[in-house]
Amino acid sequence: MTFDKIYQYNFPTIIRFGPGSSNELGDYLKKNNLSRPLIVTDSNVSQLDFFKAFTRNLQERKISIEVFDKIHKNPLKSDVYNGTDIFDQTNRDSVIGIGGGAALDVARAVVLRVNHREDLFKYDDLIGGDVFVTNEVPHFITIPTTAGTGSEVGRSAIIADDETHQKKILFSPKLLAKIVFADPILTMELPPFITAATGMDAMTHNMEAFLAKMPHPLCEGIALEGISLINQSLERAVNKPDLESRGQMLIASLMGAVAFQKGLGVVHSLAHPLSSLLDTHHGLANAVNIPYGMEFNIEGFEHKFKRIARTMELKEETGEAVVRHLFELNAKINIPHKLRDIGVKNEHIETLADLAIADFAHPNNPKPVSREDFKQLYSKAL
Ligand SMILES: NC(=O)c1ccc[n+]([C@@H]2O[C@H](COP(=O)([O-])OP(=O)(O)OC[C@H]3O[C@@H](n4cnc5c(N)ncnc54)[C@H](O)[C@@H]3O)[C@@H](O)[C@H]2O)c1
Ligand SMILES: [Fe+2]
Repeated sequence: MTFDKIYQYNFPTIIRFGPGSSNELGDYLKKNNLSRPLIVTDSNVSQLDFFKAFTRNLQERKISIEVFDKIHKNPLKSDVYNGTDIFDQTNRDSVIGIGGGAALDVARAVVLRVNHREDLFKYDDLIGGDVFVTNEVPHFITIPTTAGTGSEVGRSAIIADDETHQKKILFSPKLLAKIVFADPILTMELPPFITAATGMDAMTHNMEAFLAKMPHPLCEGIALEGISLINQSLERAVNKPDLESRGQMLIASLMGAVAFQKGLGVVHSLAHPLSSLLDTHHGLANAVNIPYGMEFNIEGFEHKFKRIARTMELKEETGEAVVRHLFELNAKINIPHKLRDIGVKNEHIETLADLAIADFAHPNNPKPVSREDFKQLYSKAL
């Protein structure tokens, strides 16, 4: 690390972590004089038993709730507009996001839109839109039910345009939740495939954050511990889940999102176009691409891969051993080895490369990535 500049390091909100922590929500709302929350989730989670028990519990405490669950798996701008309409029409005083990254992102974007009514994409961070986020926002609470994106501790929401499906990032420190209830019990029934895909998303966040070029020792320490926890627990969480493996995955996914304020990299830029073009789940897209993207990063960064290998307790402390280990881990949790197994075809590669080079993540990759590199990586993974 060189000591030649001033950097800003931000750390997140209050986190109530542990089994049963989500039961504290009712008391928390009462203590903060909140009685009319909008609950944003997806239409799958809203049918699950824990969600029904959760809303029943709030109603028994005389808290008026309204559930908005009509969101797309890769959330759209119209989802955010519809959610905000419900907020207005039913006179809400706060927003609770409960679910996976998609639900939490829509919840966060509704929080933004309530008092910021210009076109949603005016607030796109990539065009400097964060400066327009100047008004107060409603009290915002997050409750993750997957262990992957870590969006519960994030300050951004990824929302796509309804027509072009291009993903935009809405960002502001104001969009940080006031409190996170991270309760591993809510993740106990996650199906194996979702556990695997979201878990590898969390692995990708921690690894890419550790490698990203900004000097940030705080985040690097968090990222290495995140890698270690996922390495110890993901296979178990997928194949033989228990509270310990679920708890380790939940905290490690949250750590990945804390760490990636340092930046992401080539793997996320390979993955995002698959979601835009083919509607591939974000975690799955990262999971298939991570061994190939990491292999690309080894040369010149052998010293960092040595630390990752040591963290993963591999016999051979090299980048090549890390890549082999990622392929093996993917195999154990039934993640496909090749992009063709998830519907990618040769004819997609040019468009994917165009989207990848325009993506926001790779400029923080430890080394530059060209359009030609993206083509080669997609071809290799095909
Ligand atoms: N804001 C950020 O920083 C950030 C970072 C990365 C990704 N994302 C976004 O997050 C989204 C992906 O999030 P995700 O990986 O959590 O997937 P997701 O939100 O799409 O959830 C995956 C599936 O799991 C189901 N599910 C959720 N909790 C469950 C539970 N406890 N039991 C059973 N099923 C459950 C959901 O209904 C859904 O079908 C993408 O839209 C991506 O763009 C955001
Ligand atoms: Fe991600």
